[in-house]
Amino acid sequence: MVKMAKILVKVGGETLLAADDRARLAADLAAVVAADADRRLCVVHGAGPQITQLGERLGLQSTFRAGRRVTDAAMLDAVAMAMCGQVGPTLLAACVAAGLRAVSTPAASGGLALGRKRPPKVVPGEAEPVDYGLVADLAAVDTRLLDALWAAGLVPLLSSLVSDAHGQLLNLNADSLVTGLTRQVAFADVVLVTGVPGVFRDLADPTTHLPELRAAEIDGLIASGAVQGGMIVKLQEVQEILARGAGTVWIVGYRTPHAIADALAGLPGVRTRVRA
Ligand SMILES: Nc1ncnc2c1ncn2[C@@H]1O[C@H](COP(=O)(O)OP(=O)(O)O)[C@@H](O)[C@H]1O
Ligand SMILES: [Mg+2]
Repeated sequence: MVKMAKILVKVGGETLLAADDRARLAADLAAVVAADADRRLCVVHGAGPQITQLGERLGLQSTFRAGRRVTDAAMLDAVAMAMCGQVGPTLLAACVAAGLRAVSTPAASGGLALGRKRPPKVVPGEAEPVDYGLVADLAAVDTRLLDALWAAGLVPLLSSLVSDAHGQLLNLNADSLVTGLTRQVAFADVVLVTGVPGVFRDLADPTTHLPELRAAEIDGLIASGAVQGGMIVKLQEVQEILARGAGTVWIVGYRTPHAIADALAGLPGVRTRVRA
């Protein structure tokens, strides 16, 4: 085992909807740390379905383009409330109960992640450039908060809420936050926990599951339309993570017990391993 191996785990919001799913995830994270006391774990979480549900309660319609949420000022309130008032605290409670010394905070804390409003972008499946509104691209990452928390033996749980240089809060896609962190921190493994146990050539056909995927195959999967929705963003970010020299990226399903610990231990399991 590499000393001080840094591990980044990203969990999608769907993973964190139900208390028993949060408990299973927290037990898995605790097992990852228990397997090697020198591991440095960082968790990034999204809140997609929670934002959609809260938006509905507030009378707001959710709109996505190429897997990213369009965010106006009213929706940004829902993003902040769902991430920091609902998903962050409930994940925190599950992790503390599982024995992790976890700390939940938005990625804006300590200047860790600085955003910049995303300019209108040409994206797959859209003819015109898309203006996402109050959505961030990552402008800068300052890792001192992570170093300080790790040095104190704490496990950071980061929600993908950032601010810009003018103090404007911005919604950042959690997969994009992951990529930004991997630019500044040498993570040995990056584990993306999501609603499906990896990538499929055809999501409707379980026999098309891909246990292994190379970064060079990703453009073709997206262009062919085989990959849709949030998986487009995820795989684009995975390409960038690998291009920047991160070790291995794993895509695992949240319904699989100890999926993260098993992937990191090299035990058999249904998941996708993506390599450069
Ligand atoms: N070919 C595919 N293989 C795997 N997942 C896919 C594919 N096409 C679309 N998806 C969808 O992408 C989703 C993952 O993206 P997203 O909904 O943003 O989850 P997360 O919240 O984990 O980021 C999967 O749950 C699945 O429904
Ligand atoms: Mg997503």
